Order: sequence, then C-alpha cells, then structure tokens
Amino acid sequence: MSLSSSAHPHGVKTVIVPAAGMGTRFLPATKTVPKELLPVVDTPGIELIAEEANALGATRLAVIVAPNKQEVMRHFEQFPNLVETLTERGKFEQVAKVQRAAKLMTPVAVEQAKPLGLGHAVGLAESVLDDDEDVVAVMLPDDLVLPMGVVEKMAAVRAELGGSVLCAVDVPREEVFNYGVFDIEEIPADSDLPADKVKRVVGMVEKPDPADAPSTFVATGRYLLDRGIFDALRRIKPGKGGEIQLTDAIELMIREGHPVHIVVHEGKRHDLGNPAGYIPACVDFGLSHPTYGPGLRRAITAILAEHEAADTAEAAGAAQHPTQN
Ligand code: UTP
Repeated sequence: MSLSSSAHPHGVKTVIVPAAGMGTRFLPATKTVPKELLPVVDTPGIELIAEEANALGATRLAVIVAPNKQEVMRHFEQFPNLVETLTERGKFEQVAKVQRAAKLMTPVAVEQAKPLGLGHAVGLAESVLDDDEDVVAVMLPDDLVLPMGVVEKMAAVRAELGGSVLCAVDVPREEVFNYGVFDIEEIPADSDLPADKVKRVVGMVEKPDPADAPSTFVATGRYLLDRGIFDALRRIKPGKGGEIQLTDAIELMIREGHPVHIVVHEGKRHDLGNPAGYIPACVDFGLSHPTYGPGLRRAITAILAEHEAADTAEAAGAAQHPTQN
C-alpha cells in the first residue's frame, strides 16, 4: 500500500507543514516575525518540525506559506556570507547551527494567498505530491509532540488497520473545552495493537462542554492522512469562522466509511501557538539545555521566591486594610 520501504521507511514521503496562519494570538510579535520562527530557546518551531520529518524518513517538506511570511522559507537557505564570516572567526559550532535546517530537509514552498483555514492550507499541498503517494503526514509547527516519533507509531497503525491515523492526548475532563475531542470506540479485541493506545474514531466534537464531551482524548497537531483527504477537502463547505476545516474533511471521510484511528500519545505536548503554551515550552527546553539549564533553574527559583514574597505581602496588606465600600 505504500512507497518503497527503503527510501521511506514509514511509507511517508511528504510532510505538510501549514505555516500560513495569521498568528493573531501572538501579536504584536507576529506583525513582523512569523510565529513559526519564534525560538524555543534558540531553535524555531519550524526547524524542530524539520527534525521530526527527517527522523520519520520523509524527503519532502511541503511548507504552506503566506505571501508575507517568506522568512519561514529563508530559514532553510545556505547563508554563505554568514557561514564564511563565522568560519573565518573559528566559530564552528555556530556554523553548524546555521547549516542545520538546510541539512535536515529541503523544503518546497506552497503559497496560501489568504488564510482560509487549516483544511484549505493542507489541500494546497496536493499539487506537490507524486502520483505514487497514497499517504501524507501533517505536522503543525506550533505543536510540539515529544519525544519525537509519534508519527512512526501512527504509520504502524495504518499498516495494520489502513485508513488515516491521528494523534491524541488524554487530558483532564475539565480541560476538554479547549480542544477538538474524539468520539471513539474500542478496536477489535483480537488486534495485536494495544487497545489502551489505539482507538477507532467515530466522530469529533469541537470544544465541547466537559459534561457533554464524548471522551477525554483530544486532537494534537500530528495527522497521517490517506490521500483521499484531498478529495474530501474539495467537497466540504467552509465551516467555523468561514474557514475550510481539516476536521470537517476527516469527519466526512469517517461518515463515508473511511477507517480513522487515534494513537494516544503518552509523552509531552507543547502548544507554541499562544504565549500560555509557548512560555512553558521555553522553560521546559531551557531547563533541559546543557548550557542554560542550571542557570535557568536558579533564576526560576529566585523569580518564584520573589513572586511568592510579593503575594504574601499583598495578602497581608489586604488583610490589614480591607476594601471599604
Ligand atoms: P492556528 O489556528 O493555530 O494558527 O493554525 P493561526 O491561525 O496562525 O493562529 P491564531 O489563531 O491567528 O493565533 C494551526 C497551523 O495551521 C496554519 C498556522 O500557520 C498554524 O501553523 N494555518 C492556519 C495555515 O497555514 N493556514 C490557515 O489558513 C490557517
């Protein structure tokens, strides 16, 4: 069912990276800096995705870019002058950093003229696929799923059960209202796959009330999609916010009998798409960093102590001078 196993060990040649969104939750930074280039410590999200795609064995990174976000593609250029200057100065570690992205993947740009939605962005990538590609991976560059390797697990599920496979994480029920939530059923008991990690998807509900949520398994930014997704994307109408939603196309495929499963990811996940997720990601990566980790740990401990002292002083002040009404 898939491509040459030696060239693409998991059957995935193309990873689609939608990077044409407006990044409104990150304004004002995203007036001039694409959110996909915001650094996690020192490495932009787009390079972390290139690393994940490279590890998967994919050979094409189809980056969906907006006309005003060309810097995302520039990140994969060679920068010969910078390399020359750094080399002359003996800064070889920095040379390796400059060259790393281009060594990981050679991206192909697909322009999305207007941000008409994630589904629309993914649909545009069909133009760069070869005829023999029956599956694509989609990796959202503002979503880190760690440790890397979940798409490899998803490919193993597709190899056994066919269809499309999505990545899910299990969140506390009170948090489901932030996410797309899967309506699931168990896989057959005689399957070799682990029933606690692999479920069949029968539907999806966007941002439900916790009491109404069909499960606590929520969507993350990793998709392994059968090529039929492109046909489904052409047949759906704009949904929420007037955008072409990827989940609407997946739901259409489910309704038409296409098998869709989730792999429940058990590691970490960081949502880089908004400051509330980006800041913890930087702290997490920073604490693990060999150079910055020890100092950052001390700095965070000191900052926490300062804030706690200020909170305690404020609480004591409020107790002494209760607000008069
Ligand atoms: P998001 O909804 O998280 O990104 O889309 P956004 O639209 O940039 O964010 P806000 O809501 O304005 O803050 C998930 C991914 O899909 C891409 C985004 O760039 C992001 O990587 N995307 C989204 C597109 O490529 N095109 C679109 O039309 C919408």
